[in-house]
Amino acid sequence: MTHKIILDTDPGIDDAMAIFFAFQSPDIDVLGLTTVYGNVPVNMSAQNALTLCEIAGKDIPVTKGVGMPWVGPESSYAHFVHGEHGFGHIKPEPPKRELDPRSSAQFIVDMARQYPGEITLVAIGPLGNLALALRLEPELPKLVKGVSIMGGAAFVRGNVTPVAEANIWNDAYAAEIVFAADWDLTMFGLDVTNNVPFKPEFVDLLAQNNPELGGFVKESAQFYMDFYSQNRDDRVCFFHDAFPIAHLRHPELFELTEGHVRVGTGELDRGQTVVAPKGTTPSPLWNNANTIKVATGVNHSQLEQLFIDTYAG
Ligand code: BDR
Ligand code: CA
Repeated sequence: MTHKIILDTDPGIDDAMAIFFAFQSPDIDVLGLTTVYGNVPVNMSAQNALTLCEIAGKDIPVTKGVGMPWVGPESSYAHFVHGEHGFGHIKPEPPKRELDPRSSAQFIVDMARQYPGEITLVAIGPLGNLALALRLEPELPKLVKGVSIMGGAAFVRGNVTPVAEANIWNDAYAAEIVFAADWDLTMFGLDVTNNVPFKPEFVDLLAQNNPELGGFVKESAQFYMDFYSQNRDDRVCFFHDAFPIAHLRHPELFELTEGHVRVGTGELDRGQTVVAPKGTTPSPLWNNANTIKVATGVNHSQLEQLFIDTYAG
């Protein structure tokens, strides 16, 4: 079975690894890359997505989306994690191809209307484009097959604040809109992605198996590993963004749980994804809220092997 997806992304080193993984997957049909600010400003994010398509020889639409959070000032971005240009020490050549003129939100709506019930939206950055698409087309939840996001921290600590993960923290009001919409949403947050450290040997294997795409991931990931290896004895990094794509292809590798979700938008709880498994609270603030699926575990060795084999092609 082939999965039609739109990848909503803010490339970004783990975004690059996830995008190449999707491109290399024979059962994934990437209809387009829709970009958003997040790791880097949106102009850079859009150009980076074009660059990744050029490296992979993929002639698919790339759109530019929202550059600001739904509420509040411009983001401070995450160059300290992803490097000055979003790919560690790499300074990419300007891409030759042009962006699709539509906004990311408009592209999502257009594709959903063109392929009703067929598309999974895979969002691996802040959720402003999905929130805006819901405003443009209130029937969007009926038009897509599902939504898989990398973001959030349900039962574990955050990575920006003690309670919030970066993608959700970056646009908490947009996340609240997306989590409250009536669609089948699965969240791959730090509960699962932070449990799976990838060692240097892993990116070595990607590069060995695929010098072009894996080589790019290996080179860009050196800076990323420097960041993630601070305050620990081993050298590792985390490829958060590839998890929802792996799940689409191999759901049997993952453990999921269900719960009612709310997103914090206050000063202290900004971006907190508070999940109440069914029957665990009397509060209508949660019991009347949407139910989502949350990934809580994955088979580490099989996931690694899936990435390695898929890069090998
Ligand atoms: C998420 O934030 C970004 O830095 C990564 O690309 C990933 O999407 C992890 O918290
Ligand atoms: Ca990302």
